[in-house]
Amino acid sequence: MDVRRATGTDALSIARLRAEMIKAPPVGRWFEDLTAYLAAGLARAVDMAGFVVDDSAGDLVSAALGSIYQAPPGPTYSGRTGYVHMVLTKPGHRHQGHGRAVTACLLAWFWGQGCGLVNLTASADGERLYRSLGFKENARSMRLFRE
Ligand SMILES: CC(C)(COP(=O)(O)OP(=O)(O)OC[C@H]1O[C@@H](n2cnc3c(N)ncnc32)[C@H](O)[C@@H]1OP(=O)(O)O)[C@@H](O)C(=O)NCCC(=O)NCCS
Repeated sequence: MDVRRATGTDALSIARLRAEMIKAPPVGRWFEDLTAYLAAGLARAVDMAGFVVDDSAGDLVSAALGSIYQAPPGPTYSGRTGYVHMVLTKPGHRHQGHGRAVTACLLAWFWGQGCGLVNLTASADGERLYRSLGFKENARSMRLFRE
């Protein structure tokens, strides 16, 4: 299996995978906004990276996507932080190591870019994979959606 870095031209394919992951139809304003956000971020290739696996027809079957942001620095931590937005492998292609391979490449990119911490929100499907890569729960994490 070959993992490659995604480019701006992969934005629509990755957006479709993301829609699949959050179980939302890939249509409408939110989907256009998502595709534009991915196209810009992947083309910029500075604070966002995607790593993908293609099938023999050239269609994406697995992708990991993440961004880097600057949090307040601390005494032992620069504040440069990675966030994993998504890891997804299409159902017919799971259990072949794709998910692990694309996530490992994303982590290597975060470390190479000077991140000292990587955050994510795990789904039930992703939990084992993330644990096997060293992630641990942060029991103090909380969040609030605007109503
Ligand atoms: C989570 C997810 C990305 C994993 O993708 P994947 O490509 O199947 O991942 P991998 O193949 O690397 O690993 C999955 C399992 O297959 C196993 N595996 C890897 N290569 C294998 C092979 N050649 N033969 C058999 N099993 C294999 C792994 O050991 C792992 O086993 P485990 O779950 O018992 O630990 C996928 O299930 C998915 O897309 N789920 C829906 C979206 C989602 O919830 N994503 C996480 C968001 S937080």
